[in-house]
Amino acid sequence: MDRIVVTRTLPEAAMSLLDDAGTVWVWPEDRPIPREAMLREVADATGLFSMLTDDVDQELLDAAPALRAVSTMAVGTDNIDLAACTERGIPVGHTPDVLTEATADMAFALMLAAARRVREGIRYVIDGHWRRWEPNLLLGTEVNGTTLGIVGFGRIGSAIGRRALGFNMHIVYTGRRRQADLEDLGVSYRTFEGLLQESDHVVISCPLTPETRHLFDRDAFRLMKPTATLTNIARGPIVDSRALEWALRSGEITAAALDVTDPEPIPQDDPLLSLPNCLVLPHLGSATDQTREAMAVLAARNLVAGLRGEPLPACANPEAYRDTLPT
Ligand code: DGY
Repeated sequence: MDRIVVTRTLPEAAMSLLDDAGTVWVWPEDRPIPREAMLREVADATGLFSMLTDDVDQELLDAAPALRAVSTMAVGTDNIDLAACTERGIPVGHTPDVLTEATADMAFALMLAAARRVREGIRYVIDGHWRRWEPNLLLGTEVNGTTLGIVGFGRIGSAIGRRALGFNMHIVYTGRRRQADLEDLGVSYRTFEGLLQESDHVVISCPLTPETRHLFDRDAFRLMKPTATLTNIARGPIVDSRALEWALRSGEITAAALDVTDPEPIPQDDPLLSLPNCLVLPHLGSATDQTREAMAVLAARNLVAGLRGEPLPACANPEAYRDTLPT
């Protein structure tokens, strides 16, 4: 009988899939499972259903000698040592596609909010400063017809690009691969530096890897237009927070909107929180009822398939089982 450890409460649709597959233990509290509890609970687990707040590293894998499948309820897998899982023949499921549109919507909401100074406008009203209409009050920067630079043009990046076409934006992208098929649609590849110099709005939608950690550093911000905005819906550590703080204070860029921070949660005394031109959300990119349920169900299907020795519907390391599948 499989023993499945689940690190947060899940929607019923996902739970029933897991219940059919084995004995399920769920961390009952409304906060991430503490590390010691997780290490203890995985000791005899064969399946692990985890969140992006749970590190799945060598130590955890050593503590879980019976583990045969891991499934994270996220598309990003930077919190998981994929190589170590692969080495042990443990497939890792993740949740691409189902969250693409919700996350692209959030990227757009944030980019618009940064460009149009929504945070400052809300504060202005709440603080009782709104007396009359003013011709020069909180003037922002235009979005329609400007150039959008997308850093990481995968599923979410291209969904952001589709939305931008409706705003008559000129779209440039950079990423690991050039995508020649997109160039017919008027989307052009740029080097990272070229994209920063040309873009009026920059959106980060690439994975966090050793190459992208602190990709946005002092040098990067120096290349951006002083009127540009930066939106990050990917992972916090892609941006060097102190370099961003400097860029926002000194006018190297005009505004930023962050759905993700480094660390998460952002400490209450982080200077970014007191900058009027910096808007911060608590990692809500995929946070709709429909998308979170779809993520939970896909993650459950991944785990069940992994425990059965079948290919996962969405696997982050298919090389873990490629050699073991019947040909
Ligand atoms: C993911 O799935 O990686 C997102 O960051 C969660 O919304």
